[in-house]
Amino acid sequence: MLKLLWIGIRLAGLRNTLAAVRAARMRDRLDRGIARPSFTGAGTPPGSLEEAEMRSDGACFRFTHRELEVHFLAPDLVRVTWQPGLLPVPYALADNNWPPVEVKTEETHEGWMLATSELQVHVGREGKLAFRTPGGVLLREEAPPERLDGGWRHRAFLRAEEHIYGLGERATGLNLRPGEYRMWNEDPQGGYTPGHDPLYLCIPVYVGLHRQGCYLVFYENSFEARFCFETAAEACFADGALRYYFIPGPLPRLFERYSALTGRPVFPPRWVLGYHHSRWGFRTSAQIREVAEGFRTHDLPLSAIHLDIDHMDGYRVFTVDPERFGDLPDLAHELAEHGVRLVAIVDPGVKRDPNFVLFREGQQKGYFCRSPDGQTVFAPVWPGWCAFPDFSAPEVRAWWGEQYRRLLTVGISGFWHDMNEPAAFMAWGERTLPLATHHAMEGRGGDHREAHNLYGLLHCRAGYEGLRRLQPERRPFIFSRSGWAGLQRYAWSWTGDTESSWEALHRTVATVLGLGLSGIPGTGPDIGGFAGTPDAELYLRWLQMATFLPLFRTHSRLDAPPREPWTFGESALEIARDYLRLRYRLLPYLYTTAWQTARTGWPMVRPLFWLDPADEALWDVDDAFLLGDVLLVAPVVQPGAVCRRVRLPKGRWIDFWTDAVHEGGKEIEVEAPLSRIPVFARSGTVMPGEEGGCLHLHLYASTGDAGQGILYTDAGDGYGDGRVDRFSVTWEGNRLDVTWEGERSFPPGYTSVQAVFHGITCGRVLVDGREAPAKGEARETGVFRLLQAWVDPAR
Ligand code: GLC
Repeated sequence: MLKLLWIGIRLAGLRNTLAAVRAARMRDRLDRGIARPSFTGAGTPPGSLEEAEMRSDGACFRFTHRELEVHFLAPDLVRVTWQPGLLPVPYALADNNWPPVEVKTEETHEGWMLATSELQVHVGREGKLAFRTPGGVLLREEAPPERLDGGWRHRAFLRAEEHIYGLGERATGLNLRPGEYRMWNEDPQGGYTPGHDPLYLCIPVYVGLHRQGCYLVFYENSFEARFCFETAAEACFADGALRYYFIPGPLPRLFERYSALTGRPVFPPRWVLGYHHSRWGFRTSAQIREVAEGFRTHDLPLSAIHLDIDHMDGYRVFTVDPERFGDLPDLAHELAEHGVRLVAIVDPGVKRDPNFVLFREGQQKGYFCRSPDGQTVFAPVWPGWCAFPDFSAPEVRAWWGEQYRRLLTVGISGFWHDMNEPAAFMAWGERTLPLATHHAMEGRGGDHREAHNLYGLLHCRAGYEGLRRLQPERRPFIFSRSGWAGLQRYAWSWTGDTESSWEALHRTVATVLGLGLSGIPGTGPDIGGFAGTPDAELYLRWLQMATFLPLFRTHSRLDAPPREPWTFGESALEIARDYLRLRYRLLPYLYTTAWQTARTGWPMVRPLFWLDPADEALWDVDDAFLLGDVLLVAPVVQPGAVCRRVRLPKGRWIDFWTDAVHEGGKEIEVEAPLSRIPVFARSGTVMPGEEGGCLHLHLYASTGDAGQGILYTDAGDGYGDGRVDRFSVTWEGNRLDVTWEGERSFPPGYTSVQAVFHGITCGRVLVDGREAPAKGEARETGVFRLLQAWVDPAR
């Protein structure tokens, strides 16, 4: 307790620590009449079915005490709404005009059946629901929901073997069963250890996987909730209508549908996929220059440096300290010449300071959150007492969005949305705004119980929409700590204040995978952990893993020692350099994967069972992941380890480092000295890479393994034309044929192309009928239509 207090004082300052006591007292006064949900006790069931009204896209059912609406948006996407209860403001949903769906309805012995070409929904006379495939296979069965005091309890039966994934950002294992989880975006303050729950980005969405198939359920209810997965899956909500969406599998389809419903993920500019360097505590522009120069002198590639709260004038959002960062435009300019961008932090709290224009304006216009008696709600964050914009009002979002102009003008390229749970320093109780706080909720009105989990999402929406207006020719880059369903439309995320430990490194894999399975595909951890001091080994293992994650950023807490790659000694620096460079060689593949994700909603980082859901041995793997269609990455998460075991999905896998071919569908042991993270490529694929402006087509194709590859190129930013190159790999006996088809008019980005063979040794190689000159192990091919390679049986 004393230690926590000491950390609090060191990080937040003594004044803020004292203010946290006052703030908690004030909050307690405001929230006096508000009961916290207990989610216990018996609820009341819906009663019996009294009336059924069939509609073109579904049906309405009246039970003795409840109403149920079943509404198909697509043949494989159904919305279920139990009332009474407040309907959600559809912040989670993308704008969509769903075409009409043909639904057949039929009265059955048990009740009613509603069926499309993809899904059957059975409604029982006491309120039970069952979801089946058109062939009648049961995917999920739900008990009649129970009405709790203002809220709901919803139970679904789970099969013995059923696994559950998702719920947004969680610091537990990949499979969430058994376990109990809270839906309430929370800042653990200062750092979190594995197992901590909840974290910053909760989403009431999960995937169920069992032997008969898989499905996704998304509850569109932002009130506090508790999820529990034991023999049953139980979800209890504090208030609102019980509205949820059901999507049947297979896995890729779940995410295509879910992202059609809640929005396709953003496609960030290409530079975002490079390496980012950050720390809390870069206090002057001279320090930033020095760091950038360090990267140059040590020959390390770098795409962005992040400015934490230190760059602001007294932590006033959207300001820049005139003394310490007075030359920010020059700094931005100098860095840009070396291809380095600046990313600035944007916290939502606005310092209570009558001389601060943003605060004055917000007060005058009534844009800050207020208590029920109309007073602005203040709570302490880094700047001291702050007011909080009510992003649930469109005019507030527009006003906030306009403020990014100032940061764009001084040369900022990306935005780091932090503390947007919203976090507030409170000496006890919930560390956020009082629950009684009023929110506009697009004019219909609501309180913080409903708006809390939406706050980060709407903060990002305001920023994203503002940036779209201010720089219509650029794709915005925002990454956010908090959010809700739909965040992917506006922003990426990062996994917040992880502790610097081996266990946290391990848990990060499950957290990133879980976020992807919750529709948030772009994320990554603070390399080395936020809180604490990694030694060279832990730092390198973390860096190696993050090389294969969407967001590749080092960051650390104010009290952590410097973490530049050269601070760990010469041999660590060499290894770090190799990985930073590898990241840049992978950029065409990473960019293509980000583009694919933006079109499909598939996670960039996928669990191993994505490739073979029938292989139950893969269902629990939380220390390895797939990056895109080609790579399998197995980070080393144990200190001192120089080898590890990896369970490979079926098919053949080619060692990324040695080209050794492994038969999948079993576990293997591979070497993993400190310089090497085990990585494998799926045989029968083409992975684009680049080096020195030359496109490398990595042909991972052990004899007989056929498949595809894809490369997306465009200007690297903006909304102009792009180009899709598709490769297919087929075999005629011992001859490998690779065909290349380009779509669209954007010119191929590369003039020089090399084919690199992995898993086979080739003798003769013909490119469009002509012999291709050898270039070391590779062949110089140029852009081709057909490559034919004969496997050299002698080697
Ligand atoms: C929060 C963020 C962390 C940041 C710090 C100071 O703890 O999670 O990344 O460095 O605030 O802004």
